[in-house]
Amino acid sequence: PTLPPLVFHYIPWFGSAATYGMDPYKFLFDCREQYGDLFTFILLGRRMTVALGPKGNNLILGGKLSQVSAEDAYTHLTTPVFGKGVVYDCPNEMLMQQKRMVKFGLSTENFKSYVPLIKKEATDFMNNELKPVAGEWKQAHALHSMAELTILTASATLQGKEVRGKLDKTFARRYEALDGGFTPINFMFPNLPLPSYKKRDKAQREMSEFYQEIIRGRREGGADHDHDMIAALMSSAYRDGTPLSDSDIAHMMIALLMAGQHTSSATSSWTLLHLADRPDVYEELYQEQKEKFGNPDGTFRDLTYEDLKDLPLLDSCIRETLRIHAPIHSIMRKVMSDIPVPTSVAAPAIPEKNASYVIPEGHFVLASPGVAQMDPKVWQDASIWNPHRWVDEKGVASKALAEYDGGDKIDYGYGSVSKGTESPYQPFGAGRHRCIGESFAYLQLQTILATFIRNMEMKLEEPFPKTNYQTMVVLPLPAKISYRLRK
Ligand code: HEM
Repeated sequence: PTLPPLVFHYIPWFGSAATYGMDPYKFLFDCREQYGDLFTFILLGRRMTVALGPKGNNLILGGKLSQVSAEDAYTHLTTPVFGKGVVYDCPNEMLMQQKRMVKFGLSTENFKSYVPLIKKEATDFMNNELKPVAGEWKQAHALHSMAELTILTASATLQGKEVRGKLDKTFARRYEALDGGFTPINFMFPNLPLPSYKKRDKAQREMSEFYQEIIRGRREGGADHDHDMIAALMSSAYRDGTPLSDSDIAHMMIALLMAGQHTSSATSSWTLLHLADRPDVYEELYQEQKEKFGNPDGTFRDLTYEDLKDLPLLDSCIRETLRIHAPIHSIMRKVMSDIPVPTSVAAPAIPEKNASYVIPEGHFVLASPGVAQMDPKVWQDASIWNPHRWVDEKGVASKALAEYDGGDKIDYGYGSVSKGTESPYQPFGAGRHRCIGESFAYLQLQTILATFIRNMEMKLEEPFPKTNYQTMVVLPLPAKISYRLRK
């Protein structure tokens, strides 16, 4: 079999770790320029084969279970943080069932109850932390503020009353310790004799016990917590009738906490930064709020879950932010059996024989939807944040984008254009491991942003921040946003 082209590197085992780690998108775009959509690079001894573009995304994200495994690529990073028995520490068939149980907790009925709760948290945060004043610009650190508000809103809703009630210093310390074990370093080196690894393990045990105590408390107290994820998981079971154990539930709650926290706070920070940078769009968003919810006396009526489906511009701002700041830049799988590469992904290796490339067992594969999302061949002014590209003058999603998705109509609002595995827009991934948190993330982001838009003006008084790739998700480097109360 013919192997994909190997990216040139100087140091054998180390390979391209430095260039990939410093700026993965630059590295991937540069390699694509030189080698095409299919190539292999060395990452600390691992052979990573990259397949780019919608066809490449499809090859990896739509890969057969017999060919690609997520658990073999991720478990060494995730299991010490989440805990045993769930997600990537069990067979894929069980993860699929766990995802179905989580989806049961992400119901429309629950979502309806979340909108006022998120609005309350966002309003309290504004009044108690940001304290905007009319006629006077104040500044806040975008990412710090949004990280705090994300955990407040996620715990007030999904995580449940007890977690929200116990967001104290102890919880913050445990969270920080767990998070400190969820970094690219931990991915590269699963076990080092470093204090951060010990802290991670201790925090995992404590966090697991914290959730299990809540679960026991609920069993004994028979309290009614119908609308949160712990309640949903406590009432669900595997197909054969086996319920989740207390430790399974605890570990899934930790997994959901970690899955949602950085992705959502990165997205809200980037969105706010772009809005502060574009007062014209911010003003348009204010008009959208006034048109849809404005009362004659200048106040706004409360948002409801149904209303969120009818905010095309706000939706487009989030969607556009996820296009150029997809929080997850690399999606990985371990190759379990040889994968023949279709000639639609890469031209035949030996054209005379029409022989295609093969990605051999033992390699890892890497999909980077962000590359297709920023491809100038697909998107006009690909690197420019332009929310209007998602709506036409009638306020509906643009036709050009519908065509990217194989001509299917875009399911506007809570759907997305990325349902298929072959698409140039997949910030939530695709296929069997696709995100199930998308609609919750949108609900949370829209409600927070709508609350800010209604009450504050914003501007950016410093250069637009560059990107930090040293973290698990793509974050903005420290930057401050200026804000003041609307008159
Ligand atoms: C999977 C992105 C928010 C839970 C994924 C994947 C991506 C992603 C790209 C696919 C990973 C892979 O294929 O290896 C995002 C983004 C978010 C977000 C951009 C916010 C803007 C959330 C939230 C939750 C969540 C809020 C929980 C409530 C999950 C779960 C999976 C997943 C359970 C499935 C993992 C699997 O099947 O292997 N997400 N996510 N995500 N996400 Fe999200």
